[in-house]
Amino acid sequence: MLIRRPPDIASSEITPHSVYLARRDILAGGLGLALAAALPQSRAHADPLSAVKSAYSTDETPTRREDATSYNNFYEFGTDKADPAANAGALKVAPWSVKIDGLVGKPGTLTLEDILKPVTLEERIYRLRCVEGWSMVIPWVGFPLAALLARVEPLGSAKYVAFETLVRPEEMPGQRGLFQPLSWPYVEGLRLDEAMHPLAILATGMYGETLPAQNGAPLRLVVPWKYGFKSIKSIVRISLVEEQPPTTWKALAADEYGFFSNVNPEVDHPRWSQATERRIGEGSGLFAKRRPTLMFNGYADQVAQLYSGMDLRANY
Ligand code: MTE
Repeated sequence: MLIRRPPDIASSEITPHSVYLARRDILAGGLGLALAAALPQSRAHADPLSAVKSAYSTDETPTRREDATSYNNFYEFGTDKADPAANAGALKVAPWSVKIDGLVGKPGTLTLEDILKPVTLEERIYRLRCVEGWSMVIPWVGFPLAALLARVEPLGSAKYVAFETLVRPEEMPGQRGLFQPLSWPYVEGLRLDEAMHPLAILATGMYGETLPAQNGAPLRLVVPWKYGFKSIKSIVRISLVEEQPPTTWKALAADEYGFFSNVNPEVDHPRWSQATERRIGEGSGLFAKRRPTLMFNGYADQVAQLYSGMDLRANY
């Protein structure tokens, strides 16, 4: 099947030359090391990953690792920002497999090892902007989602990609008890052309190490031009579908969270402005520095054409 690529991205950019060369080196010698390091371990954060630098990175100063791993949203482990770091240690991330089904020529269940076997891990420094008005800059280690989708051969009828997080109440305290903040599984979705965009990645690590459980181990989505809640964590299922799939936050409050969820300083959340943001680590309370929020989180040159002709106020 022919997969449409955004017209302004040259094929040379899809695989930058340096990455291509590095990939050949890795295939020749270092792949085993890269893969072994990418696999979940009990002390995941202690394992260095070998990844090549990506052409897609920003050159902004990364958020401190301690901040990015202790101030999280992962409601399966509780609704407080400190809950995921406190509770996610119980999550068993190995063995791990992902079911890929729906409108694909090659459906199946792939182990994490199968998923990572043919890919080169790249380090990409991306901004993550959350809807509550905070942002971080994180060196992710991952690979383009497009690489995995191409392997399963989407059918011509596939228009959207739906994602699902693990449901395992024994290990996820937010999924048991009387108060259930969301309905499970946590679900997300992208339009197929968004999912095929080279900026959209599946991350297996951050800061050169495997993903800590609170950040979505062993495999999470990162879509840097969209609000953080599109970054579904601990993925167990990816389905290619014809109709726009349900998403957790839209199901909860459709007037506040839309399917597209593009970072857009011109469209306010109904309860607050989205025009500025606070970078985690840059002061707090009255002393917090605020930065103007950039259209598409600063990635407009790369992604704006995905939405040409669309009313982004109606399609928020
Ligand atoms: N994925 C799952 N499964 N459950 C969640 O509660 N929260 C989302 C997203 N992915 C969430 C999730 C939200 S609201 C945000 S802002 C990001 O994860 C936060 O990612 P981080 O903790 O790595 O910064």
